[in-house]
Amino acid sequence: MNIVPTPATTPVSARPPNKLPRPNDPCWCSSGKKYKKCHSDLDVDYLKEERKRLEANRVKPGKISPRREVPDSIGKPDYWQTGTPGRGTGRLVRTEEEIVRMRRACKAAAKILRLAGEFVKPGITTDDIDAYVHELTIKEGGYPSPLGYRGFPKSVCTSVNEVICHGIPDDRTLLDGDIVNLDVTIFLDGVHGDTNATFCAGNVDDESKQLIRVTHECLMKGISAVKPGRPISDIGREIEKHADQFGYGVVRAYCGHGISETFHAALQIPHYFDARSTTKMEVGMTFTIEPMIALGTWEETTWDDEWTAVTKDLRRTAQFEHTILVTTEGADILTRE
Ligand code: CO
Ligand code: CO
Repeated sequence: MNIVPTPATTPVSARPPNKLPRPNDPCWCSSGKKYKKCHSDLDVDYLKEERKRLEANRVKPGKISPRREVPDSIGKPDYWQTGTPGRGTGRLVRTEEEIVRMRRACKAAAKILRLAGEFVKPGITTDDIDAYVHELTIKEGGYPSPLGYRGFPKSVCTSVNEVICHGIPDDRTLLDGDIVNLDVTIFLDGVHGDTNATFCAGNVDDESKQLIRVTHECLMKGISAVKPGRPISDIGREIEKHADQFGYGVVRAYCGHGISETFHAALQIPHYFDARSTTKMEVGMTFTIEPMIALGTWEETTWDDEWTAVTKDLRRTAQFEHTILVTTEGADILTRE
């Protein structure tokens, strides 16, 4: 059953929509009054208060523990000491033999991500998560791909609340109500498997829960646009369409990527509609789709550590990622157990 809300006669303070009406447009609260005569002033105050609260609670850089060791017996990617990855072959389509190895690596990544997600709770630090992912990856016989990649100091990315991606695990304790994205990549048998998901620490507010749900839906909508012969831009178009319905921002600075023997291979997958992404999907391509969706603006800034990307407005953001293989039917999600 639907209940038609009675318009309030005196405006009450509620979060205004992301897109504010113009002064002479009707107010968003459906009072029927012009915006300038209704919520306009209240919204200014509301947004000022919100900004203050977000500033006060923002994630701050913590202490990073020393680099964790990887046993000699584990096969390492070319960049593990220098930080600089080789260029790879540039080939976009994988051989049957490569796909067999990709399946194994991706399956292992999915398992590590699941276990790490079960480990998330208030009171642990993101460094605890790093230690656990590091250990799980080695137990699978693989190398944690982020470790040393272009100088990244840790084995997993942990991105809390307003952190969009590439958060560095440190001594920050997860608080009740935090959301945290764990981005797991394993290098196993010469190839990478890459997957991430956003998890809740304790009791999370409804706004964040919806953001997480919709972000996952965005990933699945993007995956459903994968078809041989269609342009890459179809993926972002679907993701953006879904995010738009909720007034959410789609982060533009970071894209999905080709993946196999190199962590970030040729091929970029924007999560918004970009008409320039004309490359046609082909059977045998492997790439990631990993939308980062924000409650507010898609604009980001980066911390002085040159890794941690945060939303400009400090509102929360979520992300989900799968590595997929293009098949004759569509997409085969490789990062599943
Ligand atoms: Co990833
Ligand atoms: Co990725």
